[in-house]
Amino acid sequence: MATSSSDQVPAAAKKLEGKVAVITGGASGIGACTARLFVQHGARVVVADIQDDLGARLCAELGADAASYVHCDVTSEPDVATAVDHAVSRFGALDIMFNNAGIGGAACHSIRDSTKEDFERVLSVNLVGPFLGTKHAARVMVGRGGGCIVATSSVSSAVAGAASHAYTCAKRALVGLTENAAAELGRHGIRVNCVSPAAAVTPLATGYVGLEGDAFEEAMEAVANLKGVRLKVPDIANAVLFLASDDARYISGHNLLIDGGFSVVNPSLGIFKD
Ligand SMILES: NC(=O)c1ccc[n+]([C@@H]2O[C@H](COP(=O)([O-])OP(=O)(O)OC[C@H]3O[C@@H](n4cnc5c(N)ncnc54)[C@H](O)[C@@H]3O)[C@@H](O)[C@H]2O)c1
Repeated sequence: MATSSSDQVPAAAKKLEGKVAVITGGASGIGACTARLFVQHGARVVVADIQDDLGARLCAELGADAASYVHCDVTSEPDVATAVDHAVSRFGALDIMFNNAGIGGAACHSIRDSTKEDFERVLSVNLVGPFLGTKHAARVMVGRGGGCIVATSSVSSAVAGAASHAYTCAKRALVGLTENAAAELGRHGIRVNCVSPAAAVTPLATGYVGLEGDAFEEAMEAVANLKGVRLKVPDIANAVLFLASDDARYISGHNLLIDGGFSVVNPSLGIFKD
């Protein structure tokens, strides 16, 4: 995992100097890694999560000048509104909203055994959460000359048969939300994009698959298109940094697949041989 030092990136190379970000699901996995990377690049971050101890510890590590923790259940509109307002009151602005909080839900791959409760819970966290995050980020960003909203979708936004029905529906609908919000908010100078990673080791992914660490990565590499490279959480954080930075200043409405080409290949055809 990346270290907390903000001195690792030379001043001239910092991509988010002076920016303020809210990161939902920022206490763990992709969100925590992105929080560290954003701070290394000069941003101040509000870590918004329901894992209070983990989030507070991360912010203590990053330093009170750079990071602040707020309890936020993304399914609660008052919580999301408070997290956004906290960024403005604590750090003076909101430039970047990273709607990243998510759950895997039940690892159930039979529609006959899937429950309505699990389906609604997964949609609530993984889709209603980003809807509320986008809504309240826009509330603050409109009229302030722009901003940038990024969500974490999934490779299952582009490939069927990669996750449960609930998770696949939520992540596909999140691309729809991203595109529709980009269509509306472009006139206000606000860019809206999402990233869609394949599987990387985090509590969510290992819990869903039932494998840990090396065994998890080996299993994913076995079915991957790109061989000899394993997707790591910092690869995803780097893609989020790109979309959040001025390097992506004319990119909006985009779903950035981070899957080594997995989603564009149909391996059953098998026409490419050594
Ligand atoms: N790890 C992967 O392989 C992978 C692949 C594709 C997409 N994703 C997506 O990445 C995002 C981050 O997941 P991760 O893999 O880093 O897992 P993670 O479990 O490490 O992090 C998810 C975070 O979201 C938080 N969270 C859960 N429910 C919440 C709620 N109601 N309100 C606020 N926070 C809540 C958790 O407390 C946790 O800190 C998720 O949206 C997930 O669907 C992950």
